[in-house]
Amino acid sequence: MSEKEHKVSRRQFLTYTLTGVGGFMAAGMLMPMARFAIDPALKAGAASDWVAVCDLSELTEEPQLFPFTFKQEDAWYTSEVTQNAYVMLQGDEVVALSPTCTHLGCQVAFGTNDQHPDRFYCPCHFGMFDKQGINIQGTPPTRPLDAFEVQVEDGKVYLGSIYQRTEGGA
Ligand code: FES
Repeated sequence: MSEKEHKVSRRQFLTYTLTGVGGFMAAGMLMPMARFAIDPALKAGAASDWVAVCDLSELTEEPQLFPFTFKQEDAWYTSEVTQNAYVMLQGDEVVALSPTCTHLGCQVAFGTNDQHPDRFYCPCHFGMFDKQGINIQGTPPTRPLDAFEVQVEDGKVYLGSIYQRTEGGA
């Protein structure tokens, strides 16, 4: 059998072999780097943790403001964030509302307006919400205060993700 009858020349064999080995080595280096680069972004969408905010025994039908702190992962950056929530009993249910006004983001307070002591009041543009956090028609906010998921375990109240409510104004 002569050398011309070989289907793959020595030059081609060498090229294929070096390309294969080079590609294998490059993949071996790039895969961990790619995994390292996208890992935080993949984890960022993980389910939120529950944060203890108060004892159930502290709650009444009056909204009370409680601060709570949690770790926030934003892709490659982890920070400690402190927020507040108005937590109250509504019958047997525990309700937790965000104090951030849904008009332009000022902080609302409960019971600070002398004419409407049973409402959340926003001093920025005189926005108002009833005790359930539903926006009062005729004031600037067009949707209710956002609410937190709530879980009660062993007498402790835990807050989860915040969510928008869409029911109409009172
Ligand atoms: S920000 Fe609250 S009424 Fe405008």
